[in-house]
Amino acid sequence: MNTVTISQLTKRYPSHTALSGINVSLEAGETVALLGHNGAGKSTLIKLILGVIQAERGTIEFRDRQGRLCGRNSPLNIGYLPENLSLYERMTGLKVLSFFADLKGVSTDEVQQTLHDCNLHDVQHQLVGSYSKGMKQRLGLAQAILGNPDLLLLDEPTVGLDSHSTEYMYQTLNSLKRIGCTILVCTHELPLIQNHADRYLILGQGNLLAFGDLEALQQATNLPTRIQLPSNAELPNSLPEEFFVDNDQICCDFSMRAELIKFITTQCQVFDFVVSDPNLSQVLSCYLSKSKRIEGR
Ligand SMILES: Nc1ncnc2c1ncn2[C@@H]1O[C@H](COP(=O)(O)OP(=O)(O)O)[C@@H](O)[C@H]1O
Ligand SMILES: [Mg+2]
Repeated sequence: MNTVTISQLTKRYPSHTALSGINVSLEAGETVALLGHNGAGKSTLIKLILGVIQAERGTIEFRDRQGRLCGRNSPLNIGYLPENLSLYERMTGLKVLSFFADLKGVSTDEVQQTLHDCNLHDVQHQLVGSYSKGMKQRLGLAQAILGNPDLLLLDEPTVGLDSHSTEYMYQTLNSLKRIGCTILVCTHELPLIQNHADRYLILGQGNLLAFGDLEALQQATNLPTRIQLPSNAELPNSLPEEFFVDNDQICCDFSMRAELIKFITTQCQVFDFVVSDPNLSQVLSCYLSKSKRIEGR
């Protein structure tokens, strides 16, 4: 079931087309990473989903986690953490969250539970001005997740956070995902998001360059897979032409990895090797440099 179905979405500014004919769907309970250079159209897409700006063309359809179609009279419950959320520094964490809770019609019990979930319960009576960057960002997340949204939109949620705060944030997001929340996260932190995202939506100059899981993107870009053999392993004198040696590693196009593994185990009788597939950062660079239009899964 799709929480968000985007069809032919086009947004033009007077001197610029920010998004051109985008078609994507976000499934209930998945985490999608929104990737692309600055100016690619990521924030524009988030603002269109939020409804704070309007598209020239195309539609966005929403369904809640029960599968009900949402509309003007029963809008989807969306949580949003903007890139630079400014919070009232002279209020306590509790006051700030209670303010957002009033706007959303959320009970005080739920405010306490959310403070707990975001590890802010013990500091709720301290002024936000005294909070660390990690604590402020957790308060930002707390206002976004108040009221158990069906869709969570996060713009660079972990920028400037230490690894402990970052890990905590993703633990919180993963537990929301397990109860059916759909998450769209815009980020430049690729090694981190590779551990957490189910699919990747790559924009380039307003165009959809790719949308799929990592394996689909690896297949589409077909970058090399590298295999490191143990130092005592002996390579045959000649390799089939689809394999090559680079930096003491045997390599092949991603599409040939199964054949390469078979070759190493059957022809070389080597079984303790390390396979390195192209990572998200390499795949993304490939898309952005070639601006290839390939659609995954
Ligand atoms: N309000 C606006 N008026 C005119 N152009 C805009 C406006 N907002 C964004 N743009 C332009 O649209 C393009 C996409 O911007 P944006 O969605 O903010 O990109 P990203 O978030 O990927 O960095 C950029 O070229 C940007 O300059
Ligand atoms: Mg942006």
